[in-house]
Parts: sequence; structure tokens; C-alpha cells
Amino acid sequence: MRQLIAGNWKMNGMSVQAEALAGALAASAPLPCDLLVCPPFTQIARVADRLRGTAIAWGAQDCHAAPSGAHTGDISAPMLADLGCSAVILGHSERRQNHHETDAQVREKAIAAAAAGLLAIICVGETEQQRDAGQEIAVVGHQIAASLPDGFAGVIAYEPIWAIGTGRTPTIGEVEAVHAHIRAALIARLGAPGASLRILYGGSVKPDNAAALLAVAEVGGALVGGASLSAESFLGIGKKAVLF
Ligand code: 13P
Repeated sequence: MRQLIAGNWKMNGMSVQAEALAGALAASAPLPCDLLVCPPFTQIARVADRLRGTAIAWGAQDCHAAPSGAHTGDISAPMLADLGCSAVILGHSERRQNHHETDAQVREKAIAAAAAGLLAIICVGETEQQRDAGQEIAVVGHQIAASLPDGFAGVIAYEPIWAIGTGRTPTIGEVEAVHAHIRAALIARLGAPGASLRILYGGSVKPDNAAALLAVAEVGGALVGGASLSAESFLGIGKKAVLF
């Protein structure tokens, strides 16, 4: 299977930058992986105009659980599908922390995403304090059990919170250990289909550490923050992708 290299632009990208970045990606040579970019809501239509007809997909960073209604400031999954989005990131740690999103809410959003035909990328990961206490497996296992709806057919992104935007990454052995547990948890939760869902690693992935991280067993790609804001570094990560 091809790895998925997904870019999470977070709250970055004015029109000029989004146009330039999407244009550079649209003009790039094909890579041996699936590429996805998730701009802020305000730039999705612009990015879609640039990427339509290319092999690069676009998505969003969150959605509401309801299809429409009185939810001021929110965006629904059908609205994202209407813009040609094929995926949505859900339960990112920045939303869990800054917007107090719960596992139950993430699960409802994942149901809404699937109903709209979107691939849900559900993020899980431990804090530094939890890692120091040796609780990472328990934390991630609980998030998987509580955030995934029955029949989940999306993607998991393991993002240790202490590795996000810090330049620090877990060791290869640490990534391997958590991904192996996530695989076991997916199979326990979903049965046989859990064996083939992609599990991304996220947290300070850069072109110079991508080859090592993408070669780890059960790593099905990367969720990239800062390095997805430059076509050169995002594609530089994609070039390190392997078949798994
Ligand atoms: P960085 O790649 O900037 O560490 O961000 C990772 C992330 O949070 C992607 O969702």
C-alpha cells in the first residue's frame, strides 16, 4: 500500500501563500505516495482550484458533527465534501486542548465525516507528562477505543503532543512500539479491517528525519505540520515514502 503524506497547514496561509504553495504542489512530479493538504477553511476553495485534476487531494482540519443548522462559526462535513474535500483531520491535540474536544465528540464527527464520504484522520497522542509516567500506550489505547465509531474505515495519526512543533521526535523504537499497539487496538476494535487501516506518525517530521520514520513497521505515512508549509520540504518528505 502507498503511504499517505498529509499536510496540516493549521492556522497558516493568506491567499497569496496558499496560491503559491498549492501552485507549486500542482506543478510537482508524481511521488510514490498519496499526498493530501489540509489548509485552513478560508483557503480550501482556492487550493481546490489549483489541485483539481492533479493527483494531490485536499481536505480540512475539523468539521462539526451535524450536517447543517444553528452552529455559528462551524463547518459541516457535507460542506467540505461540497468543496471537493476527500478527508478531514479530527481530534487533533490542538483541538482537544484548546477547544476541549472529547473522544465522544471526535467519534460523532467521524460518523459525520464518513456519512459525507470523507476520510477521517483521527489524531491520538500522549502529553509529555504522560510519556514520562510511562502511560503512552494506555492513553493512546483509550483514545482509540473511545474516539472510533463502529466500522471506522479512516486513518489514525499518532502524534505525541511533546513532539509537535518542538523539533523533538520519539526514537524509532518508541514509534514502533506505539504503532504496534495501535495496530493491535484497531484489530481488537474493528476486527480484520483494522489490519489494513493506515497509521500515520506526526510530530516534527522533516525531510531529514522522514526516511527513518517512514521506514518504521506499521507507519503508513506522516501527518506534517510546519514542514507542509513549504512545497520543497513537504515534497522532500513525500520523496522518502515507501510502500508498506
Ligand atoms: P509539526 O510537524 O509542526 O510538528 O506538527 C505536527 C502536527 O501537529 C500535524 O498535525
